[in-house]
Amino acid sequence: MKMRLLATLKAEKPILSAPMGGAAGPDLVAAVCNAGGYGVIPLWGKPADQVVAGIDQLRALTDQNFSVNLNLSFPYREQLEACIDCGVHGVSLFWGMEPKAIARAKAAGLIVLMSVGSAAEARIAADAGADVIVAQGWEAGGHVWGQVSTMALIPAVVDAVDIPVVAAGGIADGRGMAAALMLGASGVWIGTRLLASREATIHDIYRSRLLEASEADTQWAHDLYDINWPDAPHRALGNSTSQAWTEAGCPAPGSRQNEKEVIGHRPNGEPVVRYQSYTPLPQTSGDVEAMSLWSGQGVAQVREIAPAADIIKEIYLDAKRRLEAASSVL
Ligand SMILES: Cc1cc2nc3c(=O)[nH]c(=O)nc-3n(C[C@H](O)[C@H](O)[C@H](O)COP(=O)(O)O)c2cc1C
Repeated sequence: MKMRLLATLKAEKPILSAPMGGAAGPDLVAAVCNAGGYGVIPLWGKPADQVVAGIDQLRALTDQNFSVNLNLSFPYREQLEACIDCGVHGVSLFWGMEPKAIARAKAAGLIVLMSVGSAAEARIAADAGADVIVAQGWEAGGHVWGQVSTMALIPAVVDAVDIPVVAAGGIADGRGMAAALMLGASGVWIGTRLLASREATIHDIYRSRLLEASEADTQWAHDLYDINWPDAPHRALGNSTSQAWTEAGCPAPGSRQNEKEVIGHRPNGEPVVRYQSYTPLPQTSGDVEAMSLWSGQGVAQVREIAPAADIIKEIYLDAKRRLEAASSVL
């Protein structure tokens, strides 16, 4: 399966950069591709012409293969057709299950990476023709689809399907990668650790919080940052917004404190309100600390900023070393 994953992705290393809306732009994805990993660029939530522009931008930075990440709970059909017209290598589908979308992409010759949170979903995706399952554990940063931890999810998914499984959630170094491979995964999908890459497009305040945070500093919530994307559980660093909300007894949307308060502005001048689902960009202004600072529990392994290529190389070599050393222990 491990060789099958590399053959499917046409990549050298079984390390995929997690799509991270706002944070993982063309520079980060290209750096991962050019370092022998496999990049996934989030282009959902945009009209089809901007999807095409995003693909062109990335192609100008790398001649390697990559996938485009599309969100199944937002309009995605025109965006998928744009990916097909552009002849991208693959699509990564998340936040839902649409066998017809998988079948459409496959019929057009794309590879399909399907994100799931359970073995039952993995089976549906595999039956619909998906090439790779991305099993996202509850430790993950950003929006979290399932509620099973990576440790329990990966073996269950690996046992359920006959296609490669990529492990996501809480994997931030070579130890995590080695563990995921021992659980039967064929590769890993790295999010939070790559937020500390030089190429990630996040605000300095957000980056500093990540570098200082411990494994206990994130909070999973069903509907804390629900504005712009309701009913979508997520994990983020605790901050002044989450603290006040928790102290108030986690009131439901509509009865939270300061609900319409503008706490900052996007670089294009649009307001950012409290409880908005939004990744603070380098030029975001206002109270950045109070915004949704997405992070997984693996954040304790995020201790320095480095080029993405160095992070990929370090994780790969460390995992290799640890797997070789493990065989002499038992
Ligand atoms: C800032 C941020 C934004 C994210 N945006 C997306 C997204 O647009 N599409 C997606 O499929 N997953 C998204 N995710 C989830 C990641 O793809 C991935 O599953 C998660 O980061 C893995 O866990 P880790 O953060 O512990 O590595 C996001 C995660 C983060 C941290």
